[in-house]
Amino acid sequence: MSCSNHNNNNNNNNNNNSLNYLLTVAWKNDSVVMIDQTKLPNKLVYVTCKDYKEVANAIKNLIVRGAPAIGVTAALGLALAAIHSEAKSLSQLLVDLDSAFTVLKSTRPTAINLLWALTRVMEKAKGKKSVYEVKKAILDEALKMAEEDIEINKQIGRTGAVLFDNGDVIMTHCNAGSLATTAYGTALGVIRAANEDGKQVSVIATETRPVMQGSRLTAFELHHDGIDVRLIPDTAVGYMMSRGAIKRVIVGADRILRTGHVFNKIGTYQVAILANMHKIPFYVAAPFSTFDFKNNPEDIVIEERSEEEVIKIGKKRIAPKGVQAFNPAFDVTPPELISGIITEKGILKPPFDNLYQTLKKWQKKK
Ligand code: MRU
Repeated sequence: MSCSNHNNNNNNNNNNNSLNYLLTVAWKNDSVVMIDQTKLPNKLVYVTCKDYKEVANAIKNLIVRGAPAIGVTAALGLALAAIHSEAKSLSQLLVDLDSAFTVLKSTRPTAINLLWALTRVMEKAKGKKSVYEVKKAILDEALKMAEEDIEINKQIGRTGAVLFDNGDVIMTHCNAGSLATTAYGTALGVIRAANEDGKQVSVIATETRPVMQGSRLTAFELHHDGIDVRLIPDTAVGYMMSRGAIKRVIVGADRILRTGHVFNKIGTYQVAILANMHKIPFYVAAPFSTFDFKNNPEDIVIEERSEEEVIKIGKKRIAPKGVQAFNPAFDVTPPELISGIITEKGILKPPFDNLYQTLKKWQKKK
């Protein structure tokens, strides 16, 4: 089952016309509408998903990707399951929601935002007295989450922008921008905020093999928004750093543990090692919803994707027939390589020994 395609180049599929950057996912006419990121950068097209199974497929197939965007999309998927359920009783509705929860949760294993978002929305079903009340509560919460995501990213941006100086050249890996969130982005949100503050900050984006989130998505959205961006092959990171061409690095995260270990797109770890070697500050930007206080590094499943992504570029084979490939989608950057973790309420600094206590305290801050 797949979502239907449509062209919508004016990006006005949202109720918020004040946005001047891309809106990745939105609720429209009882459907979930999202940019089809598999078609970027060549076509800016939207797909409409009418049921939660279509939403699950969209997440699995990277039509929508990036930890916060996956979370919001899954929450809206659960809202679709709620409003389309034909259950007549509360207990039957909860059975329907549980099935949708399980399907949506299984789409991608590494980004904690997925489970966080689904759990938060499901919590709203508790204590309700009627089918109508549950359906309304689930939809309201999912919509609230989508809106909050933009505000949280702006807060991350404002918090982190102080770390950047006028004229800085910032390296980023993968895409932690508008396209990885409802809008504005986390790592790219900090770059946006610095530019909004009048600092002329430019970006060096890695291509991010094998799915090319850097060249297809980061370069696309920064170019779209008029932010200076240059692309480099992943293999040029060390060279650029050794030439003094990079002032700082900023990336997003799929999951951050209480130990300060950061799970992010494959290749992040080697960028962090090179930054450390060249004494270049390496920052991570992520919302509270990306923190996982329960698990240890060895408990986390690293998604392994199809070897097709490695042995082919698009439809073209680039490796000999019969050769196998291994395609881990994420890696782990240890805390000792990280100069700071930028959240919506403040910047966590090393050593990250009291990360859990600090975040708990900040969560209570207005
Ligand atoms: O496989 P993807 O494209 O979903 O991976 C995305 C990343 O690794 C991002 O850096 C991360 O999700 C943070 S997005 C704000």
